[in-house]
Amino acid sequence: MGHFNIAIDGPAGAGKSTIAKLAASKLGFVYIDTGAMYRAMALHFLRLGIKAEDERAVAEACRDVDITIRYEDGAQQVILNGENVSGLIRTEAVGNMASASSGYISVREKLVKLQKQLAKRENVVMDGRDIGTCVLPDAPVKIYLTASVKVRAMRRYKELQEKGKASSLNVIEQDIEDRDYRDMHREHSPLKQAEDAILVDSSQMTVDEVANAIINLARERGLGD
Ligand code: DC
Repeated sequence: MGHFNIAIDGPAGAGKSTIAKLAASKLGFVYIDTGAMYRAMALHFLRLGIKAEDERAVAEACRDVDITIRYEDGAQQVILNGENVSGLIRTEAVGNMASASSGYISVREKLVKLQKQLAKRENVVMDGRDIGTCVLPDAPVKIYLTASVKVRAMRRYKELQEKGKASSLNVIEQDIEDRDYRDMHREHSPLKQAEDAILVDSSQMTVDEVANAIINLARERGLGD
């Protein structure tokens, strides 16, 4: 028997991870953050001193790297060659390297394979950019979660303010537009809505409303039957 999997894709800052985590916890599913895997891979390249433009070096470095995940108190931990790097992957430098290196087929092949294996083992809510289109094409529930650039920029701005980091709303908006463009126009597995995905615009919705909409959809699609 296959498992019941939920795929959530969408641009940066749409609230995917918050919503996926909440929906998973309400359903008793495992949450899988695939962005964290691309970030761990990026940290590996940075540590080796590899330049983002050097596709050959990236491909070589992919060959013997080992990325796995495990859970501590329900939170996903990413393990890079045996080391828990979860606390090291949320930096600007790692984010930029992840954005650039996730365009390479060598990186995607490795991580997509791992993600498919994980989804075979149990019920998961998985979020990323290519989950509905590539990783879990047969998932009974696929969500394409988005929000306007203005709303996403404002959320990011508030997040940074809470951390005591100064920032300009205009710069954040521009960053989001640039990253959307890169994610949607890369050659391999660009970010796009799967044909059978449901579009959810979270601009005017609370986190709870979105999570509940996903759960209702899962029940409509046969979860619990
Ligand atoms: O969601 P995030 O910011 O943690 O993702 C980090 C980078 O990885 C982001 O630039 C897009 C890329 N990514 C991807 O290409 N495919 C995924 N399934 C998840 C993330």
